[in-house]
Amino acid sequence: MKGLLLAGGHGTRLRPLTFTGNKHMLPIANRPMILYGLEHLINAGIREIGVVLGPIKEGVKELLGDGSKFGARITYIDQPEPKGLAHAISISRDFLGDEPFVMYLGDNLLKQGAKPFVEAFESGSSDCVVGAARVDDPRRYGVVVFDERGRVKGFVEKPREPISHWALIGVYVFNRKIFDAIERIRPSWRGELEITDAIQALLDGGARVDCRFVQGWWKDTGRPEDLLEANQLVLQELEMGIEGRIEPGAKVTGNVGIGEGTVVRDGATIRGPAIIGRRCEIGPNAYIGPYTAIGDEAIVRNSEVENSIIMSGAEIDCGRRIVDSLIGHRAKVLSQERNLPRGLKLILGDMTYVGV
Ligand code: G1P
Repeated sequence: MKGLLLAGGHGTRLRPLTFTGNKHMLPIANRPMILYGLEHLINAGIREIGVVLGPIKEGVKELLGDGSKFGARITYIDQPEPKGLAHAISISRDFLGDEPFVMYLGDNLLKQGAKPFVEAFESGSSDCVVGAARVDDPRRYGVVVFDERGRVKGFVEKPREPISHWALIGVYVFNRKIFDAIERIRPSWRGELEITDAIQALLDGGARVDCRFVQGWWKDTGRPEDLLEANQLVLQELEMGIEGRIEPGAKVTGNVGIGEGTVVRDGATIRGPAIIGRRCEIGPNAYIGPYTAIGDEAIVRNSEVENSIIMSGAEIDCGRRIVDSLIGHRAKVLSQERNLPRGLKLILGDMTYVGV
């Protein structure tokens, strides 16, 4: 079985963070999001993986390379325009050949990984296995509709009415029948060849589509608040160790990871779960609260940070408490208290959000 890992699209809902890079490179618990999907595929026994990239490729090829350092073989497939998930499959036809394959959406985080879905496909006689999770707002997803006996009845992308609370998650296993099904569909109102329409076409053509319910958490990271929640979910379970230096007088409690070369200065407090990267400076006079991830070479002084993602090289020294925030690579949040005239001094990129 082959794998298809999707990392295209523009990530518009995550701007400005996605103006300068690929959405799938944004860090969750200090690791680029795409690595979680790649590992899930590898753990499911898949070694030949196609990575579909859109126009924003920054960092992905450098990170994944030819896949050999992960024990896999990676082929890059170009999707110049975000024309939909079914389109991504059809342009990958040469790579996929006639073998069954698992498609994994690189912006989905899933506790149980891809293995149960692959196993369900391999042990049964389905033409397609999809995963579903219960959601409160089905209008944001593709949904699977069941009949009164609990059998799969149909699929609808972004339903206007909440006709089902079972969202399709970003893991799908297909055999070659999907290619013909995609031939039979047309772009949706958002101009995309929708995967839900293709699966509906499979069903209409008499193919067998089975659904497995997700065990444990699942998160689609479309919006900033989703990134923070994914960060919480991963940090909650991460095994972490302390490699950096904690000065006497600093207080570190709970599940905390501190990378090599990092120093936590006297008087600083860190309460886990939290992860601090390598070569960071925490303190003096800093508090890092639960569910915070701080990337390599970041500095936090005279400030408090909680439930936030602070990316590498960022500097925070503002005498305030920062909560529920996403701070990009090498961004600075500094106090100007002593520099007159007083007031907020901002250099903000397009579409930046500041809550004061
Ligand atoms: C896509 C699919 C949708 C699925 C979702 C899962 O949505 O079209 O069916 O429920 O991924 O993450 P999109 O991210 O394109 O809005």
